[in-house]
Amino acid sequence: MKLPKIIEDKEKLRFLAPVAGAEIRHHVFVCGGTSCSKVDASSVKEAFVKELENRGLRYGKESKGRNPEGPILLTDCGSVGFCSIGVAVLVYPEGIWYAQVRESDVREIVEKHLIGGEVIWRLALKSFS
Ligand code: FES
Repeated sequence: MKLPKIIEDKEKLRFLAPVAGAEIRHHVFVCGGTSCSKVDASSVKEAFVKELENRGLRYGKESKGRNPEGPILLTDCGSVGFCSIGVAVLVYPEGIWYAQVRESDVREIVEKHLIGGEVIWRLALKSFS
């Protein structure tokens, strides 16, 4: 297999991947693994999409209803080992791993943690900070 040539030019890299130059304050991962999917991970993800996009906080292309200046990056992820206690939601740079997140918890996570900077300790099971 022929590997692609490594691009050294940082400006070209930022052009090819604009997120590399974006001012992201939080990166939120929502687990979409098999076990989390069984406890409605898709509804949790959709609730984050709605809460963040309605507030103009979700980073991304305008053509997709997102904000190119948005401070929050929302990403799907695979299993992180919280399979029996999903839905797992991870928030960085704080390194807070929320467990048993339900659709009804999302607004609180957005308002208190992502906007207000206050961790929701009743849901936080693991912290790397
Ligand atoms: S499937 Fe979500 S943590 Fe394992």
